[in-house]
Amino acid sequence: MRTTILGTGAIAAQHASSIAALGEHGVAAQVVHAVDIDADRAARFATDHGVPGHGTSLADVLPETDVLHVCTPPGAHLAATLEALAAGVHVVVEKPAVLSLAELDRIAAAERSAAPARNGVGTARFTQVVQHRFGAGALRLRRLLDDGALGRPLVATCDTLWFRPPAYFDVPWRGRWDTEGGGPTMGHGIHQFDLLLAMFGEWTEVTAMAGRLAREVDTEDVSMAIVRFASGAMASVTNSLLSPRETSDLRFDTEKATIELSHLYGYSDDDWTFTPVAGQDDVARHWGPEPDALPSGHLAQFVPTYRAFAAGEAPPVTAADVRGTLELAAAIYRSAFTRVPVRAGQIGPDDPFYESMRGSGPEWAPVKDVAEEVAR
Ligand SMILES: NC(=O)c1ccc[n+]([C@@H]2O[C@H](COP(=O)([O-])OP(=O)(O)OC[C@H]3O[C@@H](n4cnc5c(N)ncnc54)[C@H](O)[C@@H]3O)[C@@H](O)[C@H]2O)c1
Repeated sequence: MRTTILGTGAIAAQHASSIAALGEHGVAAQVVHAVDIDADRAARFATDHGVPGHGTSLADVLPETDVLHVCTPPGAHLAATLEALAAGVHVVVEKPAVLSLAELDRIAAAERSAAPARNGVGTARFTQVVQHRFGAGALRLRRLLDDGALGRPLVATCDTLWFRPPAYFDVPWRGRWDTEGGGPTMGHGIHQFDLLLAMFGEWTEVTAMAGRLAREVDTEDVSMAIVRFASGAMASVTNSLLSPRETSDLRFDTEKATIELSHLYGYSDDDWTFTPVAGQDDVARHWGPEPDALPSGHLAQFVPTYRAFAAGEAPPVTAADVRGTLELAAAIYRSAFTRVPVRAGQIGPDDPFYESMRGSGPEWAPVKDVAEEVAR
């Protein structure tokens, strides 16, 4: 597989090192081009990571690319993704893949009519980075929930308590609806509540609040939500960039056990704890370390993803698989900005929150016309 990395900033290095490690997992892949609107950055990245080609034009290198990794700011993801799919190039897009539900639906439609894949099997496919679904702990918990070993899922907490100082927002694309898509709900907590949904399944209803408490941004800098799931389970979700002692904490209570994960940007098996209901210690036998367990991270997702591309199969994470997470983000904004609960499926093409997470606008910057429309 010949890979091109588009956008050679902070996260691109993680992609390059993970692709370099694919060989150890029986996948033949190499980064052949590094592309960035900033030519010097692309050149530096190519030198640092031993990439033979570098430049500023994606169109020039697509004919020599089997897989494109999109590591630009979110506002540039859609155009690159559509260009790749039309050229028969598989595309791995950083989170959040898009700025809105409308954009994700455009990608799903483009994928349905994508060109034959350049690597010669099937058609070009889309996937999004959701690396925390792929650590051994998450895979084990999913399996135990599926086979009923833990009983019904009941209660969860999902806290992304991170800290970003004012200087973090000096980067022009951060903290803006049109380039980042949203604040910590879209850009940071989305890692954790994506994992929550991957474990507890389909959500049905959310009530939320959002605030811009301490940073000079257009978006929120904190949001909180209460979510009900199709199973009847309930969860609270906090997304903050204002929390000096940083942590990413998830807690899952089922009929038979409490399973907790406490980490920051990635976890290994050591970051999980398992507490069975008193007197039911035998349940704990299900929760044990596994040989060859991978920590969460890009590599853990890229291994099965590249295997699927090579076989002409759908990758483990499709546009449909990430839509529930993006819809929950949109619903958190809608509930926060309109002060009413939002049901799954409610945000259709006629809804202001379909085209943009900003929708009718927050109380600190309402979009007048849209707010009136929502009120009607
Ligand atoms: N999965 C994760 O854990 C994780 C962590 C951090 C960032 N991210 C995501 O990765 C993406 C990039 O974030 P980052 O922190 O690396 O950003 P960054 O600002 O460090 O780097 C972005 C790079 O893209 C380039 N660029 C901008 N517009 C472009 C365009 N149209 N074409 C080509 N290049 C362009 C910039 O010059 C820059 O080099 C974002 O979507 C972000 O949310 C994911």
